Amino acid sequence: MRSRLFLICDSEQLSFLHYRCVFCLYCAPYGRYVDAAGPPGRVCPAKLAWFLQELPAFLVPVLLVLSTEARSEQGKVLLLCTFCLHYFQRTFVYAPLTRGRPVPLRLMIFAAIFCSLNGFLQGHHLLHCARFQRTWPDDVRLCAGLVLFAVGLVINIHSDQILRRLRRPGEFVYRIPHGGLFEFVSGANYLGEMLEWGGYAVATWSLPTFSFAFFTICSIGPRAYHHHR
Ligand SMILES: NC(=O)c1ccc[n+]([C@@H]2O[C@H](COP(=O)([O-])OP(=O)(O)OC[C@H]3O[C@@H](n4cnc5c(N)ncnc54)[C@H](OP(=O)(O)O)[C@@H]3O)[C@@H](O)[C@H]2O)c1
Repeated sequence: MRSRLFLICDSEQLSFLHYRCVFCLYCAPYGRYVDAAGPPGRVCPAKLAWFLQELPAFLVPVLLVLSTEARSEQGKVLLLCTFCLHYFQRTFVYAPLTRGRPVPLRLMIFAAIFCSLNGFLQGHHLLHCARFQRTWPDDVRLCAGLVLFAVGLVINIHSDQILRRLRRPGEFVYRIPHGGLFEFVSGANYLGEMLEWGGYAVATWSLPTFSFAFFTICSIGPRAYHHHR
């Protein structure tokens, strides 16, 4: 029996929440766009900030799976695992390894709120609202989406690793990245991230996941453009 907490299954409402978050995060500067003297206000060390802000996006869907009977629908849980895989990597691998500049506290809090909301919306929609046809496991969209997600994940992780190796620990200089897809695009890590969520949206074929893919493009697309310039 579904919990009474999980009554909202209106995709448009779920997607709308994403657009609200876009406007919260869209203009917030961090990394190289913060003044060299440091960002105004309080900051958090990058490793801790990335860990704390990304953790909810992993934890919330996992708790949803564990706390509801929807876990009996293995196909849905497996799809949600791809989402969790990304955030597991971001929280437990990317965060402790990052050599980035301290993150403004305000931005970290916004990001944590977004990750909590997004983790809930994606998990809730997939587990409690989404309806897949019996033929979905054979559908080309599922296969193509998962491949796209996997390719994006590899590109994203590899590109972030290249960026990390441009600095020694404690250094905050910017150098031109070489290798991997940086030979073709200046925002290779962002390209990977966009492919991932585009693939996830295709594999799950729902408005909330397309909404998240769109959010990602709105959020990191302009950053990629400015990095390039
Ligand atoms: N899904 C989403 O909406 C979303 C939103 C934001 C980020 N992300 C993902 O989170 C990850 C990090 O994002 P980001 O915006 O921090 O990426 P970024 O600006 O490319 O920076 C990534 C890391 O590399 C460092 N770096 C960047 N360019 C460098 C250069 N030329 N020389 C030396 N170091 C360099 C940055 O240091 P500094 O911090 O000191 O600049 C940072 O630690 C990416 O994989 C991105 O796709 C996803």
